Amino acid sequence: MGASVPQLTLGLLVGLVIGIASQAFLPLFQQRVRKRRPRPLPPTDDQGDWEAPTFDSGGSSAEDDDNLRVVEGIAGLIGNTPMVRIPSLSEATGCDIYAKAEFLNPGGSPKDRVALTMVETAEQTGKLIPHTECCLFEGTVGSTGISLAMIARAKGYRCHIVIPDDQAQEKYALLTRLNATVEKVRPVSIVNSNHFVNVARCRAREYSQTASSVTITSSPSESHHSHRTHVALRGHHQGYFADQFENPANFAAHFNQTGPEIYRQMRGQLDAFVAGAGTGGTLAGIARYLKPRIPQLKVVLADPTGSGLFHRIKHGVLYTPLEAEGTRRRHQVDTVVEGIGINRITRNFAKVLEPRSSNASTPAAALPWVDDAVHVTDEQAVLMARYLVSTEGLFVGSSSAVNCVAAVRTAQQLGPGHTIVTVLCDSGQRHLTKFWNDEYLQALNLPTSFPDSLAFLD
Ligand SMILES: *[C@@H]1O[C@H](CO)[C@@H](O)[C@H](O)[C@H]1NC(C)=O
Ligand SMILES: *[C@@H]1O[C@H](CO)[C@@H](O)[C@H](O)[C@H]1NC(C)=O
Ligand SMILES: *[C@@H]1O[C@H](CO)[C@@H](O)[C@H](O)[C@H]1NC(C)=O
Repeated sequence: MGASVPQLTLGLLVGLVIGIASQAFLPLFQQRVRKRRPRPLPPTDDQGDWEAPTFDSGGSSAEDDDNLRVVEGIAGLIGNTPMVRIPSLSEATGCDIYAKAEFLNPGGSPKDRVALTMVETAEQTGKLIPHTECCLFEGTVGSTGISLAMIARAKGYRCHIVIPDDQAQEKYALLTRLNATVEKVRPVSIVNSNHFVNVARCRAREYSQTASSVTITSSPSESHHSHRTHVALRGHHQGYFADQFENPANFAAHFNQTGPEIYRQMRGQLDAFVAGAGTGGTLAGIARYLKPRIPQLKVVLADPTGSGLFHRIKHGVLYTPLEAEGTRRRHQVDTVVEGIGINRITRNFAKVLEPRSSNASTPAAALPWVDDAVHVTDEQAVLMARYLVSTEGLFVGSSSAVNCVAAVRTAQQLGPGHTIVTVLCDSGQRHLTKFWNDEYLQALNLPTSFPDSLAFLD
C-alpha cells in the first residue's frame, strides 16, 4: 500500500516546516540553556597562590541550580528562602534549632508569599486585571501592606492600605514610598466598623461602586468592541479587598510553598515546628503540609501576651487574662509584639482546628494539628531579640523573637538531640522606632540590656 501523492507532499511540507522552525528556534533554545549553565571562569593574569573556584561543566545538581538561580522580576525573588541553623540557641539547648529566613523575601517578610498568591488567585478568577486602575485594599498591621504595595507596583495596580495608627513609623514610610495610599485608623475591636479590616473592606466596596457607572458604558452586545477593550472596561476601577485573615489563598501560599520548602530543606528530619499566628496562614499551611508527612512532628504555637490563641490551643477556649480582668485598655492585643497574636478565630487559623480525618472512627481523627502552645512575655521577646544580636549578629523583629523564645522552650521540653524549626519573620530594621527603641521600651518598664545567656528564660 503506497502513500498517495498528496499525502507524500504533505509529509514533505511538514518535514520542511519542522526543519526550518527548529533551525530558527534552536539558537534561541541554546541561548536559554547557556544562560542557566555557568560558564567556566575566564583565565586571568592573577598568579596568586590560591586556586580559582571551578565549575563542574557537567550536569549540575538541583542544589547548584538553586544557588545559581536567575529569576524574573520581583515575584521571582519571593520564596525559596534559606534555612539557617542558629548556633547559640542550638548549643544552649543541646538541640538543633533552625529558622526559615523569611525576612530575606524582597518585601522583607513571609507576607510576600501571601500577597502574591492572593493577587494571582484574584487574577485567575478575573477579579483583578493589570493596568485597568484596579486597586488592592487591605487591612494590615504593616507587613502584608508592604508586600501588596510592592506587588501592586510591579503588576500595575493601585494600592490602599488601612493600618492601625500605633504601628512602627517605618511601616508607614515604606508604604508611602511604594506609592500606596495609607489610611491610619485608631486600634479598635473587630466588632467595631472602624476596625482596620472593616474599613478596608468598606473602602474596596466604595471604590468599585464609584466605578460601576463607568462599567455600564461597556455593553457586551456591542460587537465592534474588541475583546481587549471589553476586558479593560470590565476591570476598570475594581476594588479588590485582599482579606488576608479570611482569604484561603493565604493558607494555600504556605501549604503549597513554605511547607514543602521546609520539608525539602530539612529532608523531612524535624521533631517540632514552632510559629506564631496573626492570620494563622503560616502556622496552618505549614502544619497541615508537614504533619501527614512527618508522623512524630510536634507543632507548637508561639503566642505573645494579650493573644487568645494560647488558651484556645491549651484549653479549647479563646480567653485572655487581660480581657478577663478588665485591664484591657487601648488595644485589642496589648503588647509590644507586632504581627502575631489575635483574639478571634480567623478562617486561616480555623484550618488547624479542623479534625485530622473526616472519618471520626480513625485514630488520626482524635489528633490535633497543633500539639502545644507557648506563651511568650514582652520581656522575654525583647531579651531574646537582644540575645540574638549579641550572640549571632542577627537583628530581627518582635515576632521572630517570640518564635525563638518558643523554639527554645520547645527544645527544653523535648530534651537534647531534637531538631526544631521556627521562622524569622522580619528584620529589626522594620521595628527601629518601637521594639528596637530604648526609650519606648523603658517607658513600658521593659529591659534594654543585651543578655549573653538564656538565663532570662529560667
Ligand atoms: C501612585 O498612586 C496614585 C493613586 O493610586 C496614582 O494615581 C499614581 O499614578 C501612582 N504613581 C505612580 C508613579 O505609579
Ligand atoms: C494550593 O493549595 C490548595 C489548598 O489550600 C490547593 O487546593 C491548591 O490546588 C494548591 N494550588 C497549587 C497551585 O498547588
Ligand atoms: C472509618 O474508619 C474505620 C476504621 O479505620 C473503617 O473501618 C471505616 O470503614 C471508615 N469509614 C468510612 C466511612 O470511611
